[in-house]
Amino acid sequence: MPQDVTGGTITLSNIGAIGGKFGSPLLNLPEVAIIALGRIQKLPRFDDNGNIYPASVTNVTIGADHRVVDGATVARFCNEWKNLIEKPQLFLLHMR
Ligand SMILES: *[C@@H]1O[C@H](CO)[C@@H](O)[C@H](O)[C@H]1NC(C)=O
Repeated sequence: MPQDVTGGTITLSNIGAIGGKFGSPLLNLPEVAIIALGRIQKLPRFDDNGNIYPASVTNVTIGADHRVVDGATVARFCNEWKNLIEKPQLFLLHMR
């Protein structure tokens, strides 16, 4: 239904669902941001002791209307969001 996808603030686009790795999402004005989530891949990463471990990695690409939000705000949002996804127990601290 068109009314279900209009009047929002941010669009979350799951391009990973169809195998996409990254995108260049374009704003749906008057929304202020659009986020493209790539597919999740298991990739090797190093822990603090230099040991290799399998990590679930995805690309996140954000397009934002800089008349409304500046790049630093978008970067802080992205870092905060990443933190909450990586450590879901932090959500509890934000619940009232
Ligand atoms: C992230 O995007 C880059 C291209 O910018 C691509 O090479 C890489 O494979 C992507 N990573 C994942 C986990 O999809």
